[in-house]
Amino acid sequence: MGKRKTIYDFLQMKKEGKKIVFLTSYDFPTAQFAETAGLDMLLVGDSLGMCVYGYEGTVPVVMDQMIYHAQAVRRGAPNTFVIGDMPFMSYQSSIEKAVENAGRFLKEAGCDAIKLEGGKRIAGVIRALVDAGIVVMGHIGLTPQSSGQLGGHKAQGRTADLAKLVVEDALAVQAAGAHMILLEAIPPEVGAYIATTLTIPTLSIGAGPGCDGQLLIVSDLIGQFQAFTPKFVKKYCNVAEVVTNAMKSYCADVRGGAFPEEEHCYRMLEGEEDKFKALMKSGR
Ligand code: KIV
Repeated sequence: MGKRKTIYDFLQMKKEGKKIVFLTSYDFPTAQFAETAGLDMLLVGDSLGMCVYGYEGTVPVVMDQMIYHAQAVRRGAPNTFVIGDMPFMSYQSSIEKAVENAGRFLKEAGCDAIKLEGGKRIAGVIRALVDAGIVVMGHIGLTPQSSGQLGGHKAQGRTADLAKLVVEDALAVQAAGAHMILLEAIPPEVGAYIATTLTIPTLSIGAGPGCDGQLLIVSDLIGQFQAFTPKFVKKYCNVAEVVTNAMKSYCADVRGGAFPEEEHCYRMLEGEEDKFKALMKSGR
């Protein structure tokens, strides 16, 4: 089991060109698998709204839900860097509320850092969180919590003028003191430009191979989330198929009397079966 990494390890990895491997995780067993597999960092993402709760988007997710899931992930991956994702309206209405909610991830769930969406427009919030001693990951490009304003879950920065705006957001996030930044759904040229321009580690989810690390949603990676598959997803297995087939076999076994078998039954202790039969017969 490796030692839990810190932001200084991630900075060093950027300098040395070693890729940071980043994945979402929402529960205890998945966090255990991730730690065993050697992930560098885990995000308890508000994508759990869609992947775990079946909401249409991330907007309905609330702080308490995030805390419960972050606690489970922390228990499953005690030696991995864990980031709590600030849900919609946990940081937008006031700086005080943002600091209080971010602090909950550290105090109540033992997270190492928090992530929040937005560039220039939330620079003041990032500064306040950093001033409060919190490790912060920014998140720009496609920001799912404001997908309504973006016209849906669409790639960002696909024209030169729009790409310039994404770069300006990245610079604003770094200038506000963020320790890392996540770039979502932007062209690889823009991702690579930002990665080489910024001194802080840049993580990509659909921002190309030029970034310092890669993030995938675990439910996409294992083929569990079925509503849609973004272009940046690579599925490494098909859990939906494996689990559905296992459940179909269980249905067939129970209905056909093939389960449970002898090996799945508890036996009475030596001599107790005859005593039991006699007792039942005597009615006492
Ligand atoms: O909640 C999440 O998992 C995220 C990713 C979509 C980047 O923020």
